[in-house]
Amino acid sequence: MASTSYFLLAVFLALVASQAIASDPSPLQDFCVADKDSPVKVNGFVCKDPMHVTADDFFKAAELDKPRNTKGKVGSNVTLINVMQLAGLNTLGISLARIDYAPLGENPPHTHPRATEILTVLEGTLYVGFVTSNPNNTLFAKVLNKGDVFVFPEGLIHFQFNPVHDKPAVALAALSSQNPGAITIANAVFGSKPPISDDVLAKAFQVEKGTIDWLQAQFWENNHN
Ligand SMILES: *[C@@H]1O[C@H](CO)[C@@H](O)[C@H](O)[C@H]1NC(C)=O
Ligand SMILES: *[C@@H]1O[C@H](CO)[C@@H](O)[C@H](O)[C@H]1NC(C)=O
Repeated sequence: MASTSYFLLAVFLALVASQAIASDPSPLQDFCVADKDSPVKVNGFVCKDPMHVTADDFFKAAELDKPRNTKGKVGSNVTLINVMQLAGLNTLGISLARIDYAPLGENPPHTHPRATEILTVLEGTLYVGFVTSNPNNTLFAKVLNKGDVFVFPEGLIHFQFNPVHDKPAVALAALSSQNPGAITIANAVFGSKPPISDDVLAKAFQVEKGTIDWLQAQFWENNHN
């Protein structure tokens, strides 16, 4: 257990130390707790008056030790702690997620437009992978067991799948942005509002328009809270 804690600490220190080359801009002060009530629009949030900052601005009672409901269609549930949940993350270029997987559940192919992700398995087994950009589209994939670590490079399409039919899985992930963003590929393509023309998608996916219409009629549930 102690070695796991040290390991996680090392992961977070490494991410914090790499800020200068992370995608979020480096901070110009110790902290800049997000003032979400400010009418001023900037890239991120303006800083709350430091005189009014307290320890609670850097704290979130998130109960990340508690299992989440994974009864949804894809059988996974992402609990993300980004700047919206923890104002003290503003300008610090980092966020944290717990991901629960039902037996045979998955976190479907998605990308984080603003973050690299490093993930460790806390319980169970996960088949994970990412695909490189065009033209190669190479799949790098691996089966992870408890304690194993994998990294998903910024912006690339990736997934995690629990291949075990009778046991749930749990992962903890750190992301190199205060607001990594998530684009679930199927949801964005087939579940956009309003829908993308089926002429466009039939050609793109090389299927009949009826297949696209069927896909567009499905309920594309968001597994990211
Ligand atoms: C994720 O889990 C929480 C708490 O168990 C639940 O309120 C939420 O609806 C779940 N989300 C999905 C997409 O299943
Ligand atoms: C893509 O594939 C080509 C041909 O196999 C190879 O020469 C090139 O190094 C690959 N590029 C990357 C980024 O892997």
